[in-house]
Amino acid sequence: MRNQYQRETKRKKLNERRKKMMRRRREEEEEEEEEITVKWAKHYSSIHQILIVGDGDFSFSLSLAYAFGSAFNIVATSKDSYVSVLKKYKRAKSNLQCLKELGATILHGVDATKMKYHTELRMQKFDRIVFNFPHAGFKGKEDNMRVMNLHKKLVNGFFKNASRMLRPYGEVHVSHKVEHPFHKWNLEELASKSSLIMIECTNFSIEDYPGYNNKRGDGSRCDQPFRLGECRTFMFRIGDIHKKKRAEEIAVSNPRPLESFVSENLPPIFLYDVKGIGSTIHYPLRIGASNLRTREPSNYGFDACQEFWGFEYPLNGSYERYMNEAHRYSESDYLNRMMR
Ligand SMILES: C[S@@+](CC[C@H](N)C(=O)[O-])C[C@H]1O[C@@H](n2cnc3c(N)ncnc32)[C@H](O)[C@@H]1O
Repeated sequence: MRNQYQRETKRKKLNERRKKMMRRRREEEEEEEEEITVKWAKHYSSIHQILIVGDGDFSFSLSLAYAFGSAFNIVATSKDSYVSVLKKYKRAKSNLQCLKELGATILHGVDATKMKYHTELRMQKFDRIVFNFPHAGFKGKEDNMRVMNLHKKLVNGFFKNASRMLRPYGEVHVSHKVEHPFHKWNLEELASKSSLIMIECTNFSIEDYPGYNNKRGDGSRCDQPFRLGECRTFMFRIGDIHKKKRAEEIAVSNPRPLESFVSENLPPIFLYDVKGIGSTIHYPLRIGASNLRTREPSNYGFDACQEFWGFEYPLNGSYERYMNEAHRYSESDYLNRMMR
């Protein structure tokens, strides 16, 4: 009788312990899930390591920080010193205070054209490097060649540095006005000098970044906004410019896939006729979406595909963005767009 009582008590204790363990594991799993919840602000996520350059009154950085609920992944910088930032922008002090409380790294005196060598930055790599509305200051009319060259020199220097501070698949973003004469800066060409390929150019809308106040940043009205007009966010990744050019030639001469199909069971496959491109290549180029997703190196069954890495690369980039970022469309939407 006593033995049976002891056995029963032991069993109950064991059960209790097992239940406790399971509860703890569930709690740990829930905590883990909470930890990896990714928060987005348009093109930027809480799991990106983000460097923001030339950030006027720091309201752009703060807008991202509020969206993420934290700023441990943000390095916010200005070319101006702390004292000068406070003098120029009336909201800067409180913006900087909030950013600091949310965990941001704040650096002043960071010149975009030399930042690669900055003591705090030279060992770091980023998923996103952002320069909104780069501008070398109001030194004459915007359509004056000399003034335009000053702006281009700034952007050129920025690309040169940023291109060496990227993590794999990292991106450099520049938001910029595209009306006359700003389109003449030709960002795509400037970026290509630093082996940066444009992977996307999308409309910029300030409403996507609540709290962000775009600033003139120079002169007596530096704290005032400038008229945005038509603006875009230009996005670049490291790539092989020559291969991209060749890929574009292919796309131009064969603007639509010859054959394509999407099936429930098979990965979608495009067949491109690349006949006539060069004298030795007479292969169809297959691009399977499954490969695009996993980014596994593959020659898709054709040796000649190695030749077209430059074509595959931007596709990888666009596919990744399309599926994972703000739009969250379906795979078939992406494929339909590709086939248009
Ligand atoms: C038109 S304002 C834009 C400011 C801010 N990005 C915004 O969107 O409100 C241009 C900015 O570029 C910055 N800038 C100019 N030359 C720079 C340089 N060499 N390195 C970093 N920032 C620079 C200025 O300090 C100024 O803040």
